[in-house]
Amino acid sequence: MKVALGVTGCIAAYKAIEVMRGLQKAGVSVQVLLTRSAAEFVTPLTFEALSCMDVITEMFPRGKNRDILHISVAQSIQLLAVVPATANILGKFAHGIADDFLSTLYLSTPAPVLIAPAMNVEMWRHPAVCANVAILKERGHLFVDPAEGQLACRAEGKGRLAEVETIVARILEALKADGSLAGLKILVTAGPTIEDIDPVRFLSNRSSGKMGYAVAEAARRRGAEVVLVSGPTYLQAPWGVRFIPVRSAAEMKDAVLKLYPDMDVVVKAAAVADYRPFKAAGQKLKKKKAEVGLHLVPTDDILELLGKQKKRQMLVGFAAETERLLESARNKMKRKNLDVLVANDVSCGVFGSDTSTVHILKPAGDPEILRDQPKHAIADRILDIIAENRKPKV
Ligand code: CTP
Repeated sequence: MKVALGVTGCIAAYKAIEVMRGLQKAGVSVQVLLTRSAAEFVTPLTFEALSCMDVITEMFPRGKNRDILHISVAQSIQLLAVVPATANILGKFAHGIADDFLSTLYLSTPAPVLIAPAMNVEMWRHPAVCANVAILKERGHLFVDPAEGQLACRAEGKGRLAEVETIVARILEALKADGSLAGLKILVTAGPTIEDIDPVRFLSNRSSGKMGYAVAEAARRRGAEVVLVSGPTYLQAPWGVRFIPVRSAAEMKDAVLKLYPDMDVVVKAAAVADYRPFKAAGQKLKKKKAEVGLHLVPTDDILELLGKQKKRQMLVGFAAETERLLESARNKMKRKNLDVLVANDVSCGVFGSDTSTVHILKPAGDPEILRDQPKHAIADRILDIIAENRKPKV
C-alpha cells in the first residue's frame, strides 16, 4: 500500500512529518513530494531520513535514470494525500494547472485524493478559495477541513491544519485500513506457474500476478495475517506479508496444503497450469527434422482439493472464462465447494492489465458486476465480501 504525500508551502508543513510517521506505523509506504515552497519550510532531507525513500521535489530530476516519474508514481499509489494544502494548490487542482510535480501527478493518477488545507482565515473564506474547494468536493475528493484556533499569523479563526491524528485516521479510513480482517489468517496465491519441459524450456501463461498481490496487500492493510504463495512474477512482495515463492503447480500445491489447516481464508488468484509435461527432460532436447509432440498430464486442481478438505475455511476461487461466463462460474463454484467466485471474462484479454471486468458470485444474493475497475478496487470489494461473511471463531 503506497500513498503519495504532497506537502505544500505553508507554516504547517512540518506537521506532514508526523502524518508520514503515523502512516508508516500503520504499515503504509509513503512517497513524499515537496513543492518548492514546501522545501523552504522543511527540508527534503528530514523526510528522506525518516521515510528511507527519495523525496521528490523536481518535475525533471537530473542525473537519475528515471522512467516518466509522475506516471510511475501515479500508477503505483492507492491515494494522493496533500497535507497541508495551500490556497495555491487548491486553485491549481481545481483548474487543471500542471506546472510542478504535485499538480502534474494530480492530473495523472487514478487514485483517490484527500486534501487537508491550511491557510489564513481570510484566505480560507475568500470566494475564490471557496469556489475551488466546492469544485474539488464535487469531483469526489475527500477533505479534512481546517480547524478553528489561533493561526500562525496570530489571527483567530478557521484555517489551521486539522489535528495530525485526525488526518492519519481519515487517510487510513480512505485506504480501508480499518481492521475489518484483524484476527484472520489469509492465504493468497498469485501469478502463473512454470512447468519445465527441459532445462531451458517451459510451459506457462500470461498471468502477471497483479490481482493476487493486490488482494494480499489490501488484506494485510485491513489487519489480516497474510501469506502469499506466488509463482514467478516481476512484482515486489507487499510489505508485511509472509512471502513463499514457488515455481510449478506441484510446488504450489505442497506449499498451500501445508499451510491450509491453519488458515481462515484462502484466495486462489493464481493461474495454475492445468497440464504439465509428463517428465521434464534432464538435458536440453535437441531439435529434429520431424514433428514432435509433448506428452502432457493433468496437474492436481489445488482449489478442488481445498474444497474437499474444507472445514472452517472460507474459499475464494477465480475463474477465467471465454464463453457462458455465469453458467460455468456457477458450476465451478459448486464443483469446487467455494464460498466466493470471481469470474473474469478473458475473451478480450486481461492478463497484465491494471483493470478488469469481473462478476463476483457470493454466498448469498445475485452476482455483482464490477466493470473495468482497477485491480486494487476489485481486491477491496473481494475483501469487503470476506469481511461481511467472516465466520465467528470457535
Ligand atoms: N486452480 C487450481 N489448481 C489448478 C487449476 C486451477 O487451484 N490446477 C484454481 C485457480 O487458482 C483458480 C480456479 O482454480 O482459482 C479456476 O481456474 P480456471 O483456469 O478458470 O478454471 P479450471 O478449474 O481450470 O477449469 P476450466 O479450465 O475447465 O475452465
